[in-house]
Amino acid sequence: MVYITRRERFNAAHKLWVETWSDEKNTTTFGKCANKNWHGHNYWLYVTVKGTPDPVTGFVMDVKHLSKIIKQVITDKVDHSNLNLDVDFIPKGMQPTTENLVLLFWQQLRPHITDAQLHCIKLYETENIYAEYYGE
Ligand code: NI
Repeated sequence: MVYITRRERFNAAHKLWVETWSDEKNTTTFGKCANKNWHGHNYWLYVTVKGTPDPVTGFVMDVKHLSKIIKQVITDKVDHSNLNLDVDFIPKGMQPTTENLVLLFWQQLRPHITDAQLHCIKLYETENIYAEYYGE
């Protein structure tokens, strides 16, 4: 089994906030991500698929095609968006954390990956923090 990864990037705004909590509790819990007037992150998204290389092309999957799918179902929707308000597949009221985003991105992407098996979605929110999801 061979694993191949495509990286895509996007920028988006968000706010982590629980309405029923005090300002203090929100700030203590979410830190800078609780800024009331929003803030942005430069996200790095890694999508890994797995399979056996095709004997003719040597590809597990055409990564140009993978890139196109990722753009269509994820990055075109989230890039330069407000993740709390603008994105149809992010439920209103769900915290747009890196952890929740990898779950939602998986759901978006999974039905469109037919040439190989979706293996992992990894999302960097900062260079020091990332979440990954393997579908279970
Ligand atoms: Ni944040």
